[in-house]
Amino acid sequence: MLYFLLSLALLLTTSCTGSEPMDKVAERVFERAQVQLTALYNSTPEDKMPVTFENGKNKFGKFNGWTSGFFPGSLWYIYEYTKDPAIREMAEKQTEKLDGIIELKTHHDIGFQVNSSFGNGYRLTGNEAYKDMVIAGADKLCTRFNPTVGCTRSWEPSKKWQYPVIIDNMMNLEILANAYRITGDKKYMEIATSHANTTLKNHFREDGSCFHVLSYDEATGEVIKKQTHQGFCDASAWSRGQAWALYGFTMMYRETKDPAYLEQAKKVAAFIIPMLPKDGVPEWDFNAPGTKHAFDMSAKGAPKAEDYHWRKGDPVLRDSSAGAIMASAFVELSGYTTGKESAKYRKTAEKILRTLASPEYMAEEGENGNFLLKHGVTNLHRWDGVDIPLTYGDYYFLEALLKFCK
Ligand code: GLY
Repeated sequence: MLYFLLSLALLLTTSCTGSEPMDKVAERVFERAQVQLTALYNSTPEDKMPVTFENGKNKFGKFNGWTSGFFPGSLWYIYEYTKDPAIREMAEKQTEKLDGIIELKTHHDIGFQVNSSFGNGYRLTGNEAYKDMVIAGADKLCTRFNPTVGCTRSWEPSKKWQYPVIIDNMMNLEILANAYRITGDKKYMEIATSHANTTLKNHFREDGSCFHVLSYDEATGEVIKKQTHQGFCDASAWSRGQAWALYGFTMMYRETKDPAYLEQAKKVAAFIIPMLPKDGVPEWDFNAPGTKHAFDMSAKGAPKAEDYHWRKGDPVLRDSSAGAIMASAFVELSGYTTGKESAKYRKTAEKILRTLASPEYMAEEGENGNFLLKHGVTNLHRWDGVDIPLTYGDYYFLEALLKFCK
């Protein structure tokens, strides 16, 4: 009887938590990542960066695309795990392809581009030239700051948005924090905290979810519009946007120890956790039709039924990249909290990571255009980049596993 009860307890424990130890999950993922990304490296043109794999073909982009830093960044993470000098050489080559980025006149995503590539390269090798690129990238970002608004500007002004600020750009504050650490110049943190405080004040809804894009009046700093450009509709919770918010405020707490940022990260977490499906990988938008918290097609700003490709009964698409970003943020947040709260965040990260490491999400060798994760979504609303691998999904997946197994 005792034996039966013990076996039952063991069975229940392993079926809830997964029987494979997480360090073995990481080992398996990094082995696959090394094979996949080496093949991707070998097929990447000299003057291009990998973006995705769509309609049976690899898609490459120029060095100035917003995702250009993630492939070198993923190689740096594989090097960090394996210490393989051949991977280091690949990471260096791909990183140095982005040298010209500093000459560009405009780019709000400079943090993503430079910090993931040169930032990781500097952290792991101490290469002084990479350090200079981090500082130059941070300086570039500072030129996009308007003190009246209190934020760095995201997209260029247009008829639609006078001074657009997207939640994604919380992520760029990390390069400012990095530059502050390197130089000791307070201006970087002044801009970072101003951007974070303004976002905290204006971007969030009562329930802890956030809008995607706010348009500010650049002369007065007033908010003109609150929208969700890449999600289902303005009032919906685009899951990658929620992931950027969770990660952004967790990271800003790491960099400042300001409790207001920790509180905000916890509020976002409290919104996200009950929204997640059983396996932990979010739908592309938590309120998309077909989800548990679906808005109907008559919601304000929803696409016209005839323009929307999803039909009742279709599976609702997941966004593995949002899951990977959330997992990385949840692991880190668990380190800033204690007791049951900390355990809840770590368990959420573990659930997401185990699902992403399963055959449903992780590609077999040679599949998926040699990217690692399947099932990402760029912008379903516009039917752009739907159910495809995304280079940033791979990057945050590897990052989350490194953090989890530290
Ligand atoms: N930063 C662009 C995106 O998340 O799609």
